[in-house]
Amino acid sequence: MQTVSTRAELGKALTALKSGEKTLALVPTMGALHEGHLTLVRQARRLADRVAVSIFVNPMQFGANEDLSAYPRQLAQDSRLLREAGADLLWAPTVAEMYPDGFATTVTVPGLDRVLCGMHRPGHFDGVATVVLKLFNQVRPDVALFGEKDWQQLTIIRRMARDLDLASPHVDAIIGVPTVREADGMALSSRNRYLSPEERARAATLNRAMRAAIGAILGGEAVGCALDALRRAIMAAGFQRIDYAELRTADTLDDIVEWKGQPARLLVAAHIGKARLIDNMAVEPAMALVPEAAAAV
Ligand code: PAF
Repeated sequence: MQTVSTRAELGKALTALKSGEKTLALVPTMGALHEGHLTLVRQARRLADRVAVSIFVNPMQFGANEDLSAYPRQLAQDSRLLREAGADLLWAPTVAEMYPDGFATTVTVPGLDRVLCGMHRPGHFDGVATVVLKLFNQVRPDVALFGEKDWQQLTIIRRMARDLDLASPHVDAIIGVPTVREADGMALSSRNRYLSPEERARAATLNRAMRAAIGAILGGEAVGCALDALRRAIMAAGFQRIDYAELRTADTLDDIVEWKGQPARLLVAAHIGKARLIDNMAVEPAMALVPEAAAAV
């Protein structure tokens, strides 16, 4: 696996990688890789001849009071993991390489960026959309893979690709990969490392309570009642604050007050200890099962 950190090196590496009409997949990341990222890389291997991974902790998507300086950076370990997972190229630009002096353009996907995480992290999705469009233009992949754990991010990136008629990748080649979970249902995240062992044990309630809410909604309970019970369960587990716990349409992220069987996503963001955890799940029967049973399906 080759590692490059300048646009000039990237250009040369891409020419070599794509020669002979080889197809290329891109997995954009911010590093601090875990099994969720490596699943994306392995899936990318199945979808394209060559796999590029970017690692860039993007300052533009962090708010003033967020964890930019504390965000874990471990390039040597990440690059070893990527090599083992079969990546061909690691694109790890510096901030100056990504945002040279005079950089001024911002990509906004209005509407989708104002709800859920967008309400609590103003400007976050502008930073995400801008850097992802830059990464797409820099690497020009045939396919790009993102974790479904960041459902709103995936939705916004797909909308951007559709609205701007992107060709590399085309909107249909932006692939969402299901969230990788621990045995107790907890979604893998680079931010889970901010939790103490005791907070980590309590945090598992988040996903358990989400499964219960999905079961209740599927069983005909009113959405408002199911969401109230979900919020109570999360707070009872010792979370300090809930940013949101909502049922939304899967593609347009519209609020759902009455569920009538349409594709829907239950999305939650809540704070415990030093971590802000997010999770989301489809309203489907398999999701209502306890994690152990779901894994066996
Ligand atoms: O999901 C992430 O890790 C980041 O938001 C992304 C897509 C790499 C953009 O910085």
